Formats: sequence, C-alpha cells, structure tokens
Amino acid sequence: MQAIKRRDFLHGALATVGAIGLRDPIWALANAPNAVGALPLLLGADYYPDQTPESLWEEDARMMADFGITNVRIAEFAWGLMEPSEGKFDFGWLRRSVEILHKHNIAVILGTPSAAPPPWLTAKYPDVVEVNAHGEPLHPGGRRFTCPTNKTYRKLSLAIATEMARTFAETPGVIGWQIDNEFTLSDSPRCYCNFCRAGFQEWARQKYGSLEKLNQAWGTAFWSQTYTDFAQIPVPLPSGGDPNPGLALDYNRYQSYANVSFLDEQWTMLRKVCPQHFVTTNNVGLIDYINERDLYAKLDFVAFDNYPGFFKMLMEQQANSEAGSWDAILTMIAMSHDLGRSLKDGKPFVIMEEQSGKAGQRTFSPQPEKGQLRLWTYQAVAHGAMGVNYFRWDTATSGAEEYWHGILQHDRSPSPGFDEMRQTLKELKALGRDVLESQYVADAAVIFDYDSSWAVPIQPGHFRLSYLSQVTAWYGTLSPSHTGIDVIVPGADLSPYKIVVAPLPYVVSQAQADRIRTFVKNGGTFVAGFRLGAKNEFSQIVRTPLPGLLRDVMGVTVEDYVPIYSGKPGVTFSGALAGPDGTCGIWADILQPSSAEVLATYTNFSHAGKAAITRNSFGKGKAVYVGADLDPTSLARLLRSLAASAGVQTPLEVPPGVEMTVRQAGGKRWMFLMNNKPDAQTVKLAKPGTDLLTGRARSESIELSGYGVQVLQLG
Ligand code: GAL
Repeated sequence: MQAIKRRDFLHGALATVGAIGLRDPIWALANAPNAVGALPLLLGADYYPDQTPESLWEEDARMMADFGITNVRIAEFAWGLMEPSEGKFDFGWLRRSVEILHKHNIAVILGTPSAAPPPWLTAKYPDVVEVNAHGEPLHPGGRRFTCPTNKTYRKLSLAIATEMARTFAETPGVIGWQIDNEFTLSDSPRCYCNFCRAGFQEWARQKYGSLEKLNQAWGTAFWSQTYTDFAQIPVPLPSGGDPNPGLALDYNRYQSYANVSFLDEQWTMLRKVCPQHFVTTNNVGLIDYINERDLYAKLDFVAFDNYPGFFKMLMEQQANSEAGSWDAILTMIAMSHDLGRSLKDGKPFVIMEEQSGKAGQRTFSPQPEKGQLRLWTYQAVAHGAMGVNYFRWDTATSGAEEYWHGILQHDRSPSPGFDEMRQTLKELKALGRDVLESQYVADAAVIFDYDSSWAVPIQPGHFRLSYLSQVTAWYGTLSPSHTGIDVIVPGADLSPYKIVVAPLPYVVSQAQADRIRTFVKNGGTFVAGFRLGAKNEFSQIVRTPLPGLLRDVMGVTVEDYVPIYSGKPGVTFSGALAGPDGTCGIWADILQPSSAEVLATYTNFSHAGKAAITRNSFGKGKAVYVGADLDPTSLARLLRSLAASAGVQTPLEVPPGVEMTVRQAGGKRWMFLMNNKPDAQTVKLAKPGTDLLTGRARSESIELSGYGVQVLQLG
C-alpha cells in the first residue's frame, strides 16, 4: 500500500473541512507549514491576459517574477471570451495563461465575471439591466448595469462561475477567487425594476409576516397608503411626494440584501466546488450602498481597492480643496482601511487593487510623487493589510481605462514608479508573515451604522447634513491622536474598547440601545453625536422624549432640536474642558440634564446658556452627549480629552502629517511611522526600537524623509 504523504493528508483534510464549512482562514492556512498549496503572501498585481496578445504572456510572467510578484488576479472582466455564446465555454486561453504564470511561480486569483455581461447576453435577455432612480433602464456598454434580483442574470452569472470553478478547481497555481467586482461601485447603486419590486414584496413578506405588522411598522395610515396585498407595495420611484420613510429605509436594506444574496449564490457554489481555495470579493472602501459586514460575513477575508491619488483628483474636480488636502485624503483612506479590517473583527485584509501610477478614466491624476506609492502601500499594511496587489500590471491601450496607468506603461516600458513598487514588495516580503498577518491595536471605536447612513439622506432634516461627512469628521478629529481606531458597525462587540463614539446616531434599535447600555454599565465611555435615537429601526420618530431608548444612560432630555441655516452659535466649555470657545455648525440639540454634568453651553443664540455637551456617569462608565455640530478643532479637543479620560493612551507624540499605528502578534509589537508630507520630519521616540528594514537600533529620534516610512520593532 502506498504511504499517505503528509501533504496529501493535509489536502484531503482541508478539503473535507472546507466542504463542511469549517475552513481555516487564509492566515491560518498560510501559516500551516506544507499546507496545501501553501499560500504565498499576496503581493502582486492585477493582470489582464484577456487584453494582451498571447505572444506577450511569457514575457509578462518572466517580468512579473523578476519584479517579485507572488500572485495575480485575472479574468474578472473576461466573460465574453470565456463564454462566447450562451452555454459554449472556452477556457483554453485562460488555462494557457494560468500555466505560464504557474511556471513562473505566480499564483492566480480568478475573478468571476458577473460585473460585465457580454453583448450576446444583453441582446438575448434585455430585461437584465438595472432601472435607475428615475425609472429609466440603464443600457449595456459599460459595466455594473445589471439588476441584482433578476433571476435570469443570476442564473447566467452562476453558470459561468460554476464552469470556471469546475475547470480550475484542481489547476496548479490557482489559489482563490474574487466574486464579481466592486459591488459597491455604481453611478446608480439601486435598481427599481419590476423584478426588484417583486423581490422587495417577498422580502417584506418574510420580514413582517403579515400586512398588519408591515402597515404598522411603516405607518401607512399617512397619505392613505395602507396595503391590503403585498403585491401593492411599490418601490420608491418618483411619485409626486416623498416616499414613506419606513418603506424607503427597508428598500435600501432590500437592495443591500439582494446584492449579498447574489454574491452568496456564487460563494455557496465555490465553497463546494473549490473547497481548498479562498473566496473573497473586492469593494470600494467607504461607499455605503451595501452592508459590507453582511457581504463579507461568509468570505475568507475582506479585500478592497485603494486609489489615493485618484481620490484626490475627484476632490479637486468637486472644488473641495479642504477635503482634497493630502492629510484629509489619507485620513479618509485610513478610515476606509479601519472599516475593512473591522468588518471581520480585526482579521487582516487584502488590497486587491492599489494605485500604481496616474489614475483615472477621462481625466487622470498626476504621477504620484516619489515615495508616495510606497507610503500608500505601507499605510494599508500599517492598518492591517496582509497583502497588496497593484492595479494593474500593464496599461491598457484600448477601452475605457486607457488612462489608468499600470506598472508598465503603454509601450511596456517600466513606469516612473516601477522601481519603487518593486522595492516595496521586496521590503514587505522581508517583513514577512509575522508582521503582515499580525493584529492591529485599537482601544477606540467609531460606529458606522448602515441604517443611519441610509435613513439620513431620506430625510436629512438639514439640506447639508450628511452621515458620511459626520462620521469622517469624527474619525478625522480622533485619528491624529494615534490611538488606534476600529470602525465598527452596530452588532459588533463593544467590550474590547475603552471608548466608543457614535456620530449622528439617528436610527437606534432596542438591540443597539441594550448593547450600548451594557457597555457603559460595565465601564466603557460612550460618546453620542446629535440626533441620538431620534428614529427607531422602522424609521418612525420615537414617541418618547429624546434621546429615546438611551435617555437614562445619557442622563439628559433633548429639549429642542435646531437646524441652523445662518450664523454659527458659539459654544463655551467648562470644568475639565475649560479652554477656547468653539462654534456650532448646522445642528444644535438643546440638552436638559437630569443626572448629567454640563461640559459646554451655547452662547449668542436663542438657546444661549442651555447645555450643548453633557457627561453622565452610568454604572461604571460614562455617557457623553455632543448636542452641537462642533467645529473640527473643538471636536478634536473634546474627543481626545474624553479618550484620554477613558484610559486610551497615545503611545507617541508625532508631528502633524505623520501617521502612526501599532500591530502586534505573539508578544511582539511593531510601530509604523509614515510621513504624509513632502518634507522630512523628525519623530522623538518614547521607547527604543529596532528599524525592521535595516536592523539598526533606534533609541532617541527618527528622521522620516518626505513621504518616508519606518517600521520599528518595539521592546
Ligand atoms: C476599480 C475597478 C477596476 C478598475 C479600476 C480602475 O474601481 O475594480 O476594474 O476599473 O478601478 O478604474
């Protein structure tokens, strides 16, 4: 009898474990010596053999290997080549490409192609297209123009993905899957077609069970909207007046669910057909169209795409110079990384697409300055990335993205950032798994709540009130304290944190209120922004005095709530927070303390002298209500002082423009220092450390060059 080799045994064991859904995550697999297809570190590029003459594939693979690439992601837009007509598949070209890559030791992540259906499909099944918020159908010719509910589209998407999976399940070199591409990217993120309408009616039936409950939850007595049959329920298309807020919020939830269940069909199949492969999808960080905690719930790890320079160009296009400074951009991106990491409770994530040069479609951003490509890559790693793929290997000479520059230029010569990216990959390999797969250290959390994010735009209360702007402002004022912040969604465990802040917490369910109450009772500090608990989960205004379900915890009653259209009331701080006065922007909740102490009051305002910010002791913890829409400087002073009182320590004071994070594993800690400025800056160290890249001991201070990065092993 032939002896069973350890490798074969592991292969079989993993396949079995995978098939029953108890698969090890990638970082466990990757750590297991001799594990099946021992996964390489994911340090690579996005590659398009489908857009490249076959005569160049060998040269590409050779150059990639020389560049240090360990993996590529391919085929996510190649549906037409893989299935040239319905049910006729051709994977010969893809297999040849995978074989060449494998020969050069480059592993392959395959993308399922449902983000861009071929013309034969839309010609034969024209009703697969999405219908936008004006009730107009989109047209084929771009991408992401299909309906997430449409059964035909789901069937055809699953069919091509299944054929791919069966074809490549055992192919050496294939290690994982990306389902679809950027579910969260869309010019019109919601579909309002008749299939979605029917899907929504069925979803509502499942959710509410009876029309009586549904009518009650939505308050349909208003404007004679009582439904007597589920088939009467509309989708929120233009209708001579605003939609019912409960229905409109539920429609967002339905659309999120429809996308998640679309992904789920492919996930279920992949898990069965390719149990030894990892499965993920890539998203755009801070776009809120889909509840990403749901989207990634079953996937092995979070992956998303990162284009700082492109993002800056967009801000400049919108003449938003404040939001377009590098500091602001990199803070936004830090928040996006923190959200990505927190979606799976701190598990390391992958940047599936990282900017590699000039980026844009019709217009494009300039070539990143020397050092910025490395800096942006390190920023991702510093926030918890375990892998980075640069977008893209070569630069397309045809198609809508001819201006999205890659590692190679149009003429296939090295791009201006070629050497820098190669060097960065080399360094990341030197840091190794220990660092790349370690945990991020965070004592603070910002709540990012999809319900509030969807409910605010339905009825913002003030035309300039934006959920995302509030969350990024709060995150942005807290982050320069370098305390380590997770960006969590309600439902996440609050107990690991010393302080949890919730900007514009408009919708609060009973379950959320209970979790917050327990957190504070047990000693946590909870800081709420204005509009706390104004709505329940059905988007009805609560009938109790505000802040509704959390009145006892906060120790205040909201006496009045005021949108501000002209002038800026002043805010004066007292007690422990005594210091410079602040201003209140577009919103003021007027607070009447019952048991809370007053930290700040309004001035020069019809509500002058009334409480603007309060702090309540509840159980072993503190609950702070920030009723004023504070200016950034005051908000920063407030949040950092509250974090410090909650016991959050800043490990190191760094100059403005320098970002610092800490990751840790197995008793070791690594500090990342990143200079977002073009000029050199000096950082004084609190404790000695070793520069991981040079092995030099550093005890007093570190000079960071312009856009420079240092990784120190502490202790
Ligand atoms: C991403 C997308 C890629 C490519 C890239 C550059 O958003 O996933 O397919 O379009 O941007 O535009």
